[in-house]
Amino acid sequence: MPDTAALALLRTPEGAAATARAAALLDGGADVLAGVARLRGEVGPELAGPAWELARLRARARPVFGADADRLFLTADTLEQAGRPELATRRAARLLADGTDSAADLGCAAGTDTVALARAGARVLAVDRDPLARELTAANAAALGVHDDVWVVAGDVVELVAAARGGEVAGCRAAVLDPARRAGGRRLLDPDRWSPPWSTVTTLLDRVPRAVVKVAPGLDHERVPEGVEAEWVSVRGSIVEALLWGRGVAETWRRATVVRDGVVHELTAEADPGPADTGPVRGWLHEPDPAVIRSGLVSPVAAGLGATLVDPTIAYLTSGDRAATPWVTSYRVDEVLPFNLKRLRALLRTRGVGRVVVKKRGSAIEPETLARQLRGAGTGTATVVVTRVAGAPTALVCAINPG
Ligand SMILES: C[S@@+](CC[C@H](N)C(=O)[O-])C[C@H]1O[C@@H](n2cnc3c(N)ncnc32)[C@H](O)[C@@H]1O
Repeated sequence: MPDTAALALLRTPEGAAATARAAALLDGGADVLAGVARLRGEVGPELAGPAWELARLRARARPVFGADADRLFLTADTLEQAGRPELATRRAARLLADGTDSAADLGCAAGTDTVALARAGARVLAVDRDPLARELTAANAAALGVHDDVWVVAGDVVELVAAARGGEVAGCRAAVLDPARRAGGRRLLDPDRWSPPWSTVTTLLDRVPRAVVKVAPGLDHERVPEGVEAEWVSVRGSIVEALLWGRGVAETWRRATVVRDGVVHELTAEADPGPADTGPVRGWLHEPDPAVIRSGLVSPVAAGLGATLVDPTIAYLTSGDRAATPWVTSYRVDEVLPFNLKRLRALLRTRGVGRVVVKKRGSAIEPETLARQLRGAGTGTATVVVTRVAGAPTALVCAINPG
């Protein structure tokens, strides 16, 4: 991982040339030992290691950061902490939608949010207590051409937020706070142990109305302060972030944002809609997107589909029709039987099923193991959903998106 001295070297023209050379060696399939040895001979020992590491991180960042990746300065840690740039852009646009033109990025790491805020038209104060993070943010603002609008400063976010007054923090009318939620490579489940901690999150939301805080997707709804909007965002069926929007930006109680095939779909509720009704399994099973489940919006989706839950404690819906909505994935239910390995295997044999995908909810089975146990010689495929139906362990033999 480059330190500030290595980063300074990488920012020189010689550093840029060494990184480009490392990228070419990587693209050519060189492994680390051969690549670094070759690079040492060509650019010297001081630059070879950092240039190789940066080229490797840029290659890893490319699928998410696109063309920007080849100009970014990164460390393994800051790349892991960085959110998706398209979501940072979306956040910045919403935060600044009222024309606010100054924003603080409270804990900037490598500057993903700083750059997004500056590109959205704000003058940005980027704060971090880590000197390498500050250097990375300054380097990235310069590399991406927004340095005229970015000021990078050392500071303690806890103190800055405690001193916030008049709707501003550090002289800015808007703020992004993205607490570090990992330590020593492990997730910190207790928000009081985040850095900055939960008390700083709530103080910011109380004092600065135009604020957005990135939180853990597993955050307990009980923690969301009154009047604050909580949003869960999924991309291709996985939750990628959860956000708390301050009272000056909040528009609703909860929001589920589902990004599918590059299209953004948003579902909102003004107040807690309560649980959906439960009913017997019908011809179709619908698996709600995790953003819908986490945001507590299963029941409006059920109402829209004329669907019911298969069990009051399980987020699977059922109805008589396939659903054409981004909020769920639909499976045609071909068989419903009490969960029993022998019976299930026999049934799949008679149906000529060879390959099985297992999904589960509310069951202790291990999907990979069961899929192996159910595999057969047939040419057909099936999705087996193991769950509880009205309290009873049940297997549903389904077809996903049948033609
Ligand atoms: C999760 S990262 C931010 C990631 C960034 N938003 C991005 O998308 O790339 C959190 C950052 O907050 C900084 N930080 C944590 N506690 C801090 C504190 N009390 N004062 C200042 N910076 C802090 C860490 O050094 C780290 O760089």
